[in-house]
Amino acid sequence: MNDKEYLTFALTKGRLANKTLELLGKIGISCEEMLDKDTRKLIFVNEELKLKFFLSKGPDVPTYVEYGVADIGVVGKDTIIEEGRRAYEVLDLGFGKCRMCVCGPESAREKLEHREMIRVASKYPVIARDYFNNRKFQTVDIIKLNGSVELGPIVGLSDVIVDIVETGSTLRENGLGVLEEICPLSARMIVNQVSMKMQNERIQNIIDSLKKVLDEK
Ligand code: PRP
Repeated sequence: MNDKEYLTFALTKGRLANKTLELLGKIGISCEEMLDKDTRKLIFVNEELKLKFFLSKGPDVPTYVEYGVADIGVVGKDTIIEEGRRAYEVLDLGFGKCRMCVCGPESAREKLEHREMIRVASKYPVIARDYFNNRKFQTVDIIKLNGSVELGPIVGLSDVIVDIVETGSTLRENGLGVLEEICPLSARMIVNQVSMKMQNERIQNIIDSLKKVLDEK
């Protein structure tokens, strides 16, 4: 069997992958061996449907899709923007909804209003730079962090952060708030540009079936 007869999905490990499998289940796409919560396997195959799935860290999903080792990827819009990889974004899956925001202590609001030279900590330096330089015309110092970004303003590393806000509880519990909203986010389906042409019928069928399910919601 030629490997190209398989359609390969790259999913974002964790909650996004679980939600994706739930949605795919509604259009008859499943993968029994992925349901085992304790498994450490990274690649899963459904021989009957000729499907492969693999789990990776979010920022790597667009990379696998751009290089064509995965035909389809499911990943947050934040990661799609940040990584800037080539792929077609074909569907908003409607889950994983949150917002990209500038957050910080109330005292930082004035610095933003006066477009002062501030320090911005973020896991998303590309999004942060684009927002401040191209939308606000404000020169800022961007400091890349890898997680628990809320620490930035608390320990005095930065004035504000650019980060994802879902429920807002991380901010609240740390005495911070949303100061400006950059854009809404959600999980998206992306497709490799060559796969879209070479496996068009199969991929388009999946997109159409998913659209139907999403429209029913
Ligand atoms: C994300 C984000 C915020 C938090 C927002 O972090 O960076 O910290 O979730 O969610 P909330 O508004 O519902 O509190 P994540 O849990 O992915 O971990 P990280 O801090 O290590 O990036």
